[in-house]
Amino acid sequence: MVDLLPYNTFGIRAAARDLLHIRSDQQLLEFLQSNCEPVFILGGGSNILLTRDVDAVVLHNEIKGIEVLSESDETTLVRAGGGEVWHEFVEWAISHNLGGVENLSLIPGTVGAAPIQNIGAYGAELKDVFHSLEAVNLEDKKPAVFSKNQCEFGYRESYFKKAGKGKFFITSVTFALQKIPVINANYGDIRKILTDRGVSHPNIKDVSDAVIEIRRSKLPDPKLLGNAGSFFKNPEISAEIFSVFSEKYPEAPHYHLENGDVKIPAGWLIEQSGWKGRRFGDAGCHEKQALVLVNYGNATGQEIVDLAIRIQQDVKEKFGILLSPEVNWI
Ligand code: FAD
Ligand code: EPU
Repeated sequence: MVDLLPYNTFGIRAAARDLLHIRSDQQLLEFLQSNCEPVFILGGGSNILLTRDVDAVVLHNEIKGIEVLSESDETTLVRAGGGEVWHEFVEWAISHNLGGVENLSLIPGTVGAAPIQNIGAYGAELKDVFHSLEAVNLEDKKPAVFSKNQCEFGYRESYFKKAGKGKFFITSVTFALQKIPVINANYGDIRKILTDRGVSHPNIKDVSDAVIEIRRSKLPDPKLLGNAGSFFKNPEISAEIFSVFSEKYPEAPHYHLENGDVKIPAGWLIEQSGWKGRRFGDAGCHEKQALVLVNYGNATGQEIVDLAIRIQQDVKEKFGILLSPEVNWI
């Protein structure tokens, strides 16, 4: 048995049958062909909540390497190994003056997990620069390639959280990065930081630095306080439901989406339901960001789940909105 405590950012203690460090596609294929035990794939462990022991062999993705595949006038195709640390890949792109991932700076985890929930932050999503990915099908044990359409990306969604859940090991991701970066500094706090710093013509490094500053001020560092980022997704409600909601809560922050729906920040709903800063034992709702559930030390996965369910129930009772988890519960 292996202790997964060092492998999940919530800092939850749970055991797995075994843990294997996967460093190449070849090693992965050979292992799958000679092994019939169940497997569970793990990257940085920054989007999982372990509620029980994992009755499987954990495959820890450590497939590295970043290479330029080709260039056109506008984009450079770059392939990164699934086990690359996401933020190190962002730093690589910035150092090569390739745009498109700077707003996604400092998101924890690996490149290979980034398509799973189509990571997003500060006005950008992975899908904006995604070209394709390479994976190994865990059922037939053969390599597979997925185009952008096949990944069915949505808000914190993809094919790999739906029909493809648990069926593929993503070994590399290919990105179409911008050779002439298009600066995206419209997200409120980014513009403010740049203005405060006297930066009127920001480059991608300036945007990345601003994003890093905002993230450090709002989100708890998992090295100091166990967490997995936003615990729930921000709910999207129809225009009809929103019109009733906004009559009752005209002060609620909201964002109109292209399809006519309206997104309400779950952090606001949770705070208004009285949960911000509360804790039960070592399981708590963060005092600065109500959407982040935290482990103050020795919380179990089940204690975090119990807290999440109480929050869900109160938000549902007060606002009639059911929050869905973003974090993967195991
Ligand atoms: P893991 O937690 O290891 O795995 C997540 C899921 O993907 C698991 O089900 C696992 O089995 C599966 N998986 C992992 N790797 C692979 C693979 N190679 N092939 C197939 N399946 C795989 N997310 C955002 O979108 N935006 C944010 O701003 C953001 N901020 C965060 C801030 C903090 C402080 C934390 C702790 C998390 C944050 N997250 C954010 C969530 C998290 O960083 C992302 O979801 C990240 O992509 C998870 O990567 P990981 O390698 O840690 O995945
Ligand atoms: N808010 C509150 N109280 C809180 C927290 C938030 O009222 O305690 C309200 C405020 O009005 C604030 C608004 O919610 O303006 C939005 O908050 P914030 O900017 O912190 O972003 P978020 O909606 O809580 C989302 C993503 C984050 C991403 C940030 C920045 C989801 C589920 N979360 O959070 O992603 O980093 O925007 O783009 O979409 C993650 O997925 O793990 C994650 C951290």
